[in-house]
Amino acid sequence: MSLRPERVLIDRATIQAKVAEMARAIEARHRHPEPLLVVSVLRGAVIFAADLMRELNLALSVEFVAVESYGSSTRSSGAVNITRDVTEDLDGRHVLLVEDIVDTGLTLRYLISHLKGKNPASLEVAVLLDKVARRQIEVKVDYTGFVIPDAFVVGYGLDYAGLYRNLPDVMVLGESAS
Ligand code: IMP
Repeated sequence: MSLRPERVLIDRATIQAKVAEMARAIEARHRHPEPLLVVSVLRGAVIFAADLMRELNLALSVEFVAVESYGSSTRSSGAVNITRDVTEDLDGRHVLLVEDIVDTGLTLRYLISHLKGKNPASLEVAVLLDKVARRQIEVKVDYTGFVIPDAFVVGYGLDYAGLYRNLPDVMVLGESAS
């Protein structure tokens, strides 16, 4: 038995509509004259961040932070390590952290406290997917795309063992006989 994308959970048109809706909510709250700094988490959030940025009718620049979390391929252990930090100075900047999914909340909590330590003027968080039922710790998410059930999902940037990030829909991983 091997694990493969089994069924579509959220199709591309639904994602596209939600990303546009999230962009409108972000624009409505960012009325300050300074450009927004989007910090996208590598690697899972890049596709979401790329679509979200193209929807945002705001002056913005983009930065990347890469994290590695330890655990099995479908369950994170919560131990997080930053393998690539932002290079721009965040002091006084308005930052939007963009993440693909929040599960236990441990990765996001770590990233939020790491970025807050760089003294931004504001820090907001946008996540596409939220597995609320698996939350172990409270994290403040300002913009959420979809609350999803406790299933391992791939596609639209999310991977299983490095694969399936390029699938345009969010799919549930399941067992197949081959
Ligand atoms: P957390 O620290 O438990 O909230 O996990 C967040 C990280 O685990 C995400 O950034 C993803 O990289 C990974 N993750 C959690 N659930 C899934 C999933 O269903 N599919 C793919 N990656 C996931």
